[in-house]
Amino acid sequence: MSEGAGKAQEKRKIQAIKGVRDILPPETALWNRVEQTAHEVFATYGFTEIRLPIFEETELFARSIGAETDVVSKEMYSFDDRDETSISLRPEATASVCRAYIQHNMQQLPQPVKLYYMGPMFRRERPQKGRYRQFYQIGAEVLDRVRPADTISGDLVKELRRDAVIDAEVIEMLTTFFEKTGLEGTALYLNSIGCKECRPKYVELLRAELAKVKDKLGADSQRRIETNPLRVLDSKLESEQPYIEKLPRIADHLCKDCAEHYVAVKRELDLRGVKYHENWRLVRGLDYYMRTTFEITATGLGSQNAVCGGGRYDGLVELLGGRPTKGIGFAIGEDRLILSLQEVVKRSSDTGVQSPLATRHSPPLYIACMGERAYATALGAAKTLRNAGFRVELPPVEQKFGIALGRAVQLGAQYALILGDNEVSSGEWTLKTLADGSQRKVTEQELIAAIRSL
Ligand code: HAM
Repeated sequence: MSEGAGKAQEKRKIQAIKGVRDILPPETALWNRVEQTAHEVFATYGFTEIRLPIFEETELFARSIGAETDVVSKEMYSFDDRDETSISLRPEATASVCRAYIQHNMQQLPQPVKLYYMGPMFRRERPQKGRYRQFYQIGAEVLDRVRPADTISGDLVKELRRDAVIDAEVIEMLTTFFEKTGLEGTALYLNSIGCKECRPKYVELLRAELAKVKDKLGADSQRRIETNPLRVLDSKLESEQPYIEKLPRIADHLCKDCAEHYVAVKRELDLRGVKYHENWRLVRGLDYYMRTTFEITATGLGSQNAVCGGGRYDGLVELLGGRPTKGIGFAIGEDRLILSLQEVVKRSSDTGVQSPLATRHSPPLYIACMGERAYATALGAAKTLRNAGFRVELPPVEQKFGIALGRAVQLGAQYALILGDNEVSSGEWTLKTLADGSQRKVTEQELIAAIRSL
């Protein structure tokens, strides 16, 4: 490489990778408040937090999500570790929660075990608004070991009710969380996709019906007739809609237990006042689901409007080598939630209505000081004020008072503490209200009370 080329290389501005972004202030404040709301709401429902690894053995995801799914077959970031184990950045966290449940013997704990998590996930999808390659989820999972006593007594009605109550409570928690964040225009879509008894029969029926209209379908759906006919129901392609609408619906083909469970879930949701729309085409893209599936959409998101997806996954823990265990959970797309909330904040500032998560930063208090002695006093004052919870700006270089006050206004400060030689010698500090220029004298002892009273 010539020296010139080397220099050009050095100067190339390195950008974040496509589909991966920085989340900058002040937006990060909104992210924190959303996460704080999740911690608070989930705790009231008895959930505790689990922190999971960012990467896992590839096989964990292949076995749980399904090797043929888009997520596993096309979208994972996988690499061989030095010992040649295949490793993948996590595309979701349900599989990891199940792995951790088995690994840490959580079957021994009082059941159900209720866990939540938040953090980045990675999928190599085509980036667009609301769809990123590193995105963030806030999710929760309920794991419920199948109790031998119930299996022996065979009290299926009780079991179905227990499952339905858990499903409905998880969904209720979600709607409570969304309400607390101030998210608007949400809609909850609900379906049951049956179990390993009834779904294969339905899938065969669907395949046969799809074969009859194959030439009317697009290439993707044609391929899916063979690989995964359920996914055809997901299609948004306009020209396919009239044919899809006429296909047999799973609700008419559920086995007795699945049908009863679905009725029970809807009853439990009704009892909790949770509104939902049934959507027989909601099949979800991950293989582990059975019975209940749901999605929540929100406004302001364009085509990527699913802000949350979830469902039941009895049998997944067993598939990963654990004891028979039932499971249900969801994951919220935090990026999409934030996008939609920003729309709410924009609208509410137009209408003057305060959104629950609107920025609530207190303005800083600016300390302007001149001289070495004043600087030492300022350091002490800043520490005391910060300990008391005030936001304090102390400039890193000495500024003339006029410049300091200008900077204070720029930073949105309402008050400035002025410390010069006079103040330090007399012990009487100057507290200035920037809006009207008025000043008052306060001692160090009076400072905090004086600021609080302003
Ligand atoms: P999922 O539907 O694949 O489900 O993802 C859940 C949510 O994550 C989506 O509704 C969406 O809001 C967000 N999301 C997914 N991919 C992206 C992306 N590329 N960019 C931005 N947001 C995205 C799951 O992941 C399951 N683990 C949910 C679950 C938990 N089911 C049971 N328990």
